[in-house]
Amino acid sequence: MIPAQGLSRTSGGDGASALSADVESFYHLRHGGHAGKACRGTACFAARHLDPACWAEAMQNDPRVYCLGECFAAPARGQTQPRPLVRVASREGIVLGRIAAGGARTLAAYREQGGYTALARALAGPPERVLAAVETSGLRGRGGAGFPTGRKWRAVAQQPPGVKYVIANGDEGDPGAYVDRYLMEDDPHCLIEGMILAGYAVGASKGYIYLRAEYPVVGTVLRAALAEARTEGWLGPHVGGGSFSFELEVYSGHGSYVCGEETSLLRSIEGKRPEVMARPPYPTERGLFGRPTLLNNAETLVSVPWIVAHGGEAYAAIGLPNSRGTKALSLNSLFARPGLYEVEFGVTVRHIVEELGGGLRGGGKLRGVLIGGPIIGIVPPHLIDTQFGFEELAAIGAGVGHGGIVAFDEHTSIPELVQHVFSFGSYESCGKCTPCRGGSGRVEEIFDRALAGTATRGDFQECRDLVAALRLASLCGHGTGLARFAESILRYYPAEIETCFR
Ligand SMILES: Cc1cc2nc3c(=O)[nH]c(=O)nc-3n(C[C@H](O)[C@H](O)[C@H](O)COP(=O)(O)O)c2cc1C
Ligand code: SF4
Repeated sequence: MIPAQGLSRTSGGDGASALSADVESFYHLRHGGHAGKACRGTACFAARHLDPACWAEAMQNDPRVYCLGECFAAPARGQTQPRPLVRVASREGIVLGRIAAGGARTLAAYREQGGYTALARALAGPPERVLAAVETSGLRGRGGAGFPTGRKWRAVAQQPPGVKYVIANGDEGDPGAYVDRYLMEDDPHCLIEGMILAGYAVGASKGYIYLRAEYPVVGTVLRAALAEARTEGWLGPHVGGGSFSFELEVYSGHGSYVCGEETSLLRSIEGKRPEVMARPPYPTERGLFGRPTLLNNAETLVSVPWIVAHGGEAYAAIGLPNSRGTKALSLNSLFARPGLYEVEFGVTVRHIVEELGGGLRGGGKLRGVLIGGPIIGIVPPHLIDTQFGFEELAAIGAGVGHGGIVAFDEHTSIPELVQHVFSFGSYESCGKCTPCRGGSGRVEEIFDRALAGTATRGDFQECRDLVAALRLASLCGHGTGLARFAESILRYYPAEIETCFR
C-alpha cells in the first residue's frame, strides 16, 4: 500500500512547504536562495586565485553553496556560465554522444537520434531480456560505489510482485562533478527511457528523479520532457500502447550533500528527516515507503538504452575486465581544456590530464588530482600513469567516484586542501555518528590553527586518532570517505603535513 500522504506531498515535485520544522532544519537550501550565489565547492576552491573577490563572497555565503555544477568555469557564481566543451573520447558515445552532437532536449530531437527505439523493441519482448542485457553488460553503478547494476536489478525483480519503485539519483553532490547535470539538462529523454526500461525489467510502476536544489534549470527541462513523454504515450497506463504502466516525477531536494546517499535520499522523498540509516535491509528489499526500490545513479540509467539497443556483449567489449564500458568525466577550470569527456575505462589518468585536458592552464604545475569528489583518496602526480578503473584506482587509495576530476596546482597547499575538505565534511555531516559529527569539525579546527602556525605535535596525533575513528565508526561513505582522503594525504604528502605541526 502506498501512503497517500507520501504521493500527494511529492506530486508537483518540491514539497518544501509540507516539511515539518524538524525536517526543514536539516536542509541548507530549504528556501532556495542560492541562485546567483558564489560557490565554495572544491573546483572553485582550487581556482580561487583566478577571482579572489568571487571566492571571498563564497566564503561569506550563509547557507554555504557547495557546487553549482559549473566547475568548468570556476570560480562560479550560479547558472550564468556558457555551456562546457563536450567531447566523446571513446569509440562509442554511449552517454555523451547526443550532447556532443548538440543535445536532445526535446522528444523530437531525441527521436531523430534514435531515441525510444530501444524501449519500443524491449516492450515487444519479455522483461527478462532487458534484465539479461544489463547483467551481461557488466555495467557497474556510476554513483560512486561501483555496485554491479545487473545484480541490483535482479534483486528487485526477484521481490514478490506488488508496488515497486525506480529512483534516479540525480543529486550529484560531489563538488567538482557536473556530469549528471548535463546528462539531465541536455538529454533528459535518455534518462527517462532508461528509467522506463528499468521499471519494465524489475516490475516497477512508479519512479522518481531525485534532483538537487542547485540545478533548477534541470528541473524545468525534466518536467517538460516528462510531459512530452506522457503525451507521446511513453509514460502512463499503457506505455508504448502495451499493458505495462509506468509514471515518473521529479522530486527536488533542499540542499544537503548527504541526501545523495541512498537511505538518506529515500527518507528525503518520504518527507522524513533524512539521516542515513543502517543497512540491511537494502532498498532493493525495503526501500521507498517500505517497498522494493531500484535506486541507480542518473548516468547508470542513461547507459541502459544503449545497452538494450546494442546488446550487453557489445557494452562488455569496451573497457577493462572489471570496469566495463565508458565513463563521463567532468574536468575543472584549471585544465587548459575543461569540459565533459566520455572515456573508455582503461585509459590512464595521465591521458585524461594531459591529452584530454591539455594539462593545466597557463603551464601550471600539477600538485594532485581528486577524482570523484573530495571525499576520496587523492592521486598524486607520480601515480598519474594509473589506469582509470574501479580496482586500479582503489589499489592506490583513490576511486572512480562519480567522475568529477579536480586538478589543483601550486596555488593550493596541501594543508589548505585538508582544511577545505574537512570544512565541507563537517558542514555536510548528517550528525548520526560521533566521529563524523564532531571529529570532522575538530580536524577542520586543528588545520585552521596549522595554517596559522600554532598547531602542535599533539594536535597532529589527535588528527590521526580522529581519522582512525572516522574509518572505524562511520555508518556511511561520508565518514569513511573523509578518512580515505586523510589517509591518502598522509601517505603521499607526509612532509607537507608534518611541517605545519611543531
Ligand atoms: C555521502 C554520500 C553521498 C552520495 N551522493 C551521491 C550522489 O550525489 N549521486 C549518486 O548517484 N550517488 C551518490 N551516493 C551513492 C548512493 O548512495 C548510491 O550508492 C548510488 O546512487 C547507487 O546508484 P549506482 O548503483 O547506480 O551507483 C552517495 C553516497 C554517499 C555515502
Ligand atoms: S558517516 Fe557522517 S554522514 Fe554518514 S551517517 Fe555517519 S554522521 Fe551521517
